Amino acid sequence: MPHEVQGVVAMTKGRPVSLETVLVPDPGPGEALVQVQACGVCHTDLHYRDGGINDEFPFLLGHEAAGVVEAVGPGVTDVAPGDFVVLNWRAVCGRCRACLKGKPWYCFNTHNATQRMTLADGTELSAALGIGAFLEKTLVASGQCTKVDPAAPATAAGLLGCGVMAGFGAAVNTGNVGRGDSVAVIGCGGVGNAAIAGSRIAGATTIIAVDVDARKLEWARGLGATHTVDGGTEDVVARIRELTGGFGADVVIDAVGRPETYEQAFYARDLAGTVVLVGVPTPDLTIELPMIEVFGRGGALKSSWYGDCLPSRDFPMLIDLYRQGRFDLDAFVSETIGIGDIEAAFERMHRGEVLRSVVVL
Ligand SMILES: NC(=O)c1ccc[n+]([C@@H]2O[C@H](COP(=O)([O-])OP(=O)(O)OC[C@H]3O[C@@H](n4cnc5c(N)ncnc54)[C@H](O)[C@@H]3O)[C@@H](O)[C@H]2O)c1
Ligand SMILES: [Zn+2]
Ligand SMILES: [Zn+2]
Repeated sequence: MPHEVQGVVAMTKGRPVSLETVLVPDPGPGEALVQVQACGVCHTDLHYRDGGINDEFPFLLGHEAAGVVEAVGPGVTDVAPGDFVVLNWRAVCGRCRACLKGKPWYCFNTHNATQRMTLADGTELSAALGIGAFLEKTLVASGQCTKVDPAAPATAAGLLGCGVMAGFGAAVNTGNVGRGDSVAVIGCGGVGNAAIAGSRIAGATTIIAVDVDARKLEWARGLGATHTVDGGTEDVVARIRELTGGFGADVVIDAVGRPETYEQAFYARDLAGTVVLVGVPTPDLTIELPMIEVFGRGGALKSSWYGDCLPSRDFPMLIDLYRQGRFDLDAFVSETIGIGDIEAAFERMHRGEVLRSVVVL
């Protein structure tokens, strides 16, 4: 018997989301049913609503969640009912060419639940990032459940499921930030501020936060930025160079994902430095760069899918850092809200008032 719950659905492009009755099937082979306890509102949910990801409406939103496994399907051995888990959107396959090369964080064949959740009339829902967690119970592939220490509150733990992991990993995994490095982060929302926190933990000594919103820059200071730059009024490239001895930063992270911020990142890094694109561009955006600069500056231009994380390796580690007081996940939780408040949360995100609104179920 499917479970009947209320979920947040984007029915048509650009229209406000609505609460709809969602039917969640019992878990089949390789699947798990998870009782969601908390789910953060990520900018990617808004991208889905606005048709910036694809046109496979209706979307069931929410993908940054923690909860408790309620039931598992046949053959599932990695998690069991009662486990406290963070949901991940890149359950690696172990068999594709990336996995076989020993680089599973690039897995080209990540998987989701086989069965689809539906509206009451049977319309199949596209779950955001293969999760869909703005609802009391969700169906995922068991590999999307990463068991973590239940001592961490779900509001904090759930953030590892997307933005915080993506930002932290963009710095530490993709950018390979290390002791003594200089780092600049453009865009200090949940993702960018996690990159700042990750850079501090990794030992970076100059950490420059760039945003157009003063509140974000203030939060960035709290999370480890040593300098801040107002991208709305200052020359971002010139300021980053000035703060790095005239050279540019070793690693520049674009956590916005627009041509103008990418171009700033490109020119604000030192020779042989690294640019990491973790902000997600919409499909209409293009960029033009002088090829001689691409060559002449050397280094690396990288993208960061989910912070190049391995959930099984990275989620428990980040929870340990949190519990030791070394990584302040609670600082990312600007407010807790109800499941009916997503549109208001999108508005607040747009106005820059929050790092994360977290839905508590
Ligand atoms: N790569 C991944 O795996 C991954 C995962 C999660 C989110 N994302 C993406 O990361 C991006 C950031 O997500 P978020 O949740 O932090 O969003 P957010 O809206 O909370 O933060 C974006 C920040 O960028 C700032 N900003 C906007 N324009 C700017 C500019 N021109 N210069 C400087 N700052 C500017 C905003 O003021 C805001 O603080 C989004 O594109 C999101 O889709 C990527
Ligand atoms: Zn794989
Ligand atoms: Zn997200």
